[in-house]
Amino acid sequence: MGAATVSTKRPTATQTPDGAMLTLDPTINAPRLARDFLVKCFCDLGIADDYVGQTVVSELVTNVYKHVRTGQIVVRIFTDDHDGSVVVEVSDQGENMPVIREAENSDLSGRGLYIMSMLVRAWGVRPTNNGGKTVWVKLDR
Ligand SMILES: Nc1ncnc2c1ncn2[C@@H]1O[C@H](COP(=O)(O)OP(=O)(O)OP(=O)(O)O)[C@@H](O)[C@H]1O
Ligand SMILES: [Mg+2]
Repeated sequence: MGAATVSTKRPTATQTPDGAMLTLDPTINAPRLARDFLVKCFCDLGIADDYVGQTVVSELVTNVYKHVRTGQIVVRIFTDDHDGSVVVEVSDQGENMPVIREAENSDLSGRGLYIMSMLVRAWGVRPTNNGGKTVWVKLDR
């Protein structure tokens, strides 16, 4: 992996009728900015414990930084009124899909999605119309 890129651009956070949205460049700063965003969103939603949420958004945004590195990252956080869950979505423009791997004994990485999947109510991936995908995660409030 090459040297880390540090973006000088400010991330843009917006409030939409469908929840809060943050757009980020895929730099070394992106996971930290996404965690900060989630903390604020959970606070606004009145959710006291944000540690699992931070862990999830951190892993998903780090994956984009590690495995895609092009285009932009869009983080969306909203509540699902049908089932009462909180939804965290991370979209990127990379064409490859995230897959839970069975890491070899000697591998230092390759376990993040598996660990994340154990922490959440449900998760999945859907394609986006720009050739990328959205990873969605449902968390208990
Ligand atoms: N956003 C993504 N775009 C494309 N491929 C992805 C993305 N996220 C994950 N992947 C693929 O899924 C695999 C499993 O992801 P996972 O997060 O479990 O492991 P990792 O990121 O390689 O390592 P670790 O999370 O342990 O640091 C990755 O190795 C990669 O091939
Ligand atoms: Mg990972």
